[in-house]
Amino acid sequence: MIDRPTIERILDAAQIVDVIQEFVPLKKRGANYLGLCPFHNEKTPSFTVSPSKEIFKCFGCGKVGNSVNFIMEHEHLTYPEALKYLAKKYHIEVVEKELTQEELEKQNERESLLVVTAYAARQFSENLFQSDEGMTVGLSYFKERGFMQATLKKFEVGYSLGKRDGFTRRALDDGYKQDFLVKTGLSIQHEDHLFDRFSGRVMFPIHSLSGQVLGFGGRVLKTDARTAKYLNSPESEIYHKSRIVYGIYQARKAITQFDKCFMVEGYTDVISLHEAGIENVVASSGTSLTQEQVRLIKRFTPNITILYDGDAAGIKASIRGIDIVLEEGLNVKIVLLPDGEDPDSYSKKVSNEEFSKYIKEKETDFIRFKTELLLDEAASDPVKKANLIRDIVRSIAVIPEMISRTVYIKECSTQLGIQEAILYHEVNKMRQKRSLQDGIKHIGQEFIPIQPPIIEKSILNGGVTTPIVEKEIIRLLMRYASKELQRRIHPDDGKEEVITVSDYIVKEIISDDLKFNDPIYKNIFGEYCFAVDQGTFIEDRNFTNNPDPKVSELAAEFLFDKYVISKIYEAKQTYIETEDMKLKEIIPDTILVFKGRKIKDYIEDIGKQIQSAQDAGDIDKAMDLQKKHMPLSDALVMISRKLGDRVTL
Ligand code: CTP
Ligand code: MN
Repeated sequence: MIDRPTIERILDAAQIVDVIQEFVPLKKRGANYLGLCPFHNEKTPSFTVSPSKEIFKCFGCGKVGNSVNFIMEHEHLTYPEALKYLAKKYHIEVVEKELTQEELEKQNERESLLVVTAYAARQFSENLFQSDEGMTVGLSYFKERGFMQATLKKFEVGYSLGKRDGFTRRALDDGYKQDFLVKTGLSIQHEDHLFDRFSGRVMFPIHSLSGQVLGFGGRVLKTDARTAKYLNSPESEIYHKSRIVYGIYQARKAITQFDKCFMVEGYTDVISLHEAGIENVVASSGTSLTQEQVRLIKRFTPNITILYDGDAAGIKASIRGIDIVLEEGLNVKIVLLPDGEDPDSYSKKVSNEEFSKYIKEKETDFIRFKTELLLDEAASDPVKKANLIRDIVRSIAVIPEMISRTVYIKECSTQLGIQEAILYHEVNKMRQKRSLQDGIKHIGQEFIPIQPPIIEKSILNGGVTTPIVEKEIIRLLMRYASKELQRRIHPDDGKEEVITVSDYIVKEIISDDLKFNDPIYKNIFGEYCFAVDQGTFIEDRNFTNNPDPKVSELAAEFLFDKYVISKIYEAKQTYIETEDMKLKEIIPDTILVFKGRKIKDYIEDIGKQIQSAQDAGDIDKAMDLQKKHMPLSDALVMISRKLGDRVTL
């Protein structure tokens, strides 16, 4: 039996996209991901994964479930086996034993603690809005600070009465057990006496994702050096401060909607931002950001923007936060507020529009953030500059995903004027060192290149044009359609399946929804799509005897020579073997080149649109287009890297 906290940790850590992607290639479609269902045979993808709902559903065969269900189904594992599989993947230690009577009670205890915290939240809220003391002391404090009642209610903010044991007595009278009052930390036992932990404080309940009250933060009203400004619930069966972020319950919808989460430091920062119209915001509340907190946010968005004070402490906290976010594979941006302001104070000082504008303008990626922070003094000092570079390289090295690292290396190279190749070398060195330290042989599954890649060369050298690649694909189809390209074990019945050249090419092209420009190639390709769908092959003479003379001419051209060398490779003279010996390389490469060309054409097109939008003064449209531009260039970089120096795009 795996114990309950472990199961919860596993479920918290498991990222459904991450889990499924290990078996099924997924593509992002809006908020969801789409792929070919591994549980039934399909040619067009209907297998949908929702990262925010943490479930998958196939609209073809109807299978649904979460990460654990997926692993059970896909790997034919039992429930505990699937949990252990995920625990291993996320490096979670599995505590496994028979549930004793005591442990069963502990499970019930969690439920009991949650009943007590829910009761307390209700009491505190009632105090604030209905009791004389609460209204004169607590509510007027919030009014003075400029908070609106509706927002206070949204966050279930409350007030704990000033009497030293007011809450505890009332709770005992209402039948709540002393044991649970103490375990939630609401009451403190001192010898035979029970006291309230939070007496005389305004109360901020800390909610779980589903809105249960896990714990509280209580703020003193008078600034008094003798007591801490905030007191928080102690760690308990239900409250683990490193695993929860304040405000997630109220923010989750907006985080998904805007595909972004702001990270602030304090309770009042979260609440004030809501009042300023920004609802996708959470706080780490008194702890420095933890891995578990970042994973929690990762369920809803890969984009985190750290919004901290502009003072030295804020900057330090931002720097600490950056690597934690990067390490979890998320994108991080930073906004520093003017010195002396926190998000709460600054959002109250300026209008909502000005505040949003400030954020938009000041938002920087971590490389620029670090560079700007240090470059002034580092520019003239080579030792300092070297340290700065090392610092940035260290941050890039923790990013798990290759494409993002590539993009950041490029950025760093531009900003600091260092050759990409050198940065690659440093990043790889650091990653290898890290992986040795971790005792893990591979970080991710990707290949860590030792040699600097040739991105610039391949992107800059105009080589194969789109019409040539289109023609090349048709040629390969006509010559080799029925030839075996790969074999694989079919997940449904475990039988070996042969993938032919036409299967491969058709699937690659239609799954990316790529179109041929040339109408003749388009028609011919259509014939192959039909044939693949029907599981048949097209006879050569369908083309060689085609009523359309252009088609028959082409077919003749393609089918005549017995041995040819691929057009794509021709320029480089890399291979002297005949083409059909090399199909396993030539065909995937040709498809990659086709995709690369399409993306390049698309990028050029967007470039023109951006230009004309700018000319027309439509900045919003230009910005929107710019957003589309980014992932396309990332994809292009990836393709170039996959092609290596075999082919230039
Ligand atoms: N904090 C804490 N214990 C303290 C001080 C701070 O737990 N003794 C946490 C709280 O979650 C607080 C956050 O750290 O919200 C940020 O602290 P600070 O900036 O000092 O407080 P503010 O959020 O600005 O609170 P206020 O605006 O009410 O002064
Ligand atoms: Mn503040």
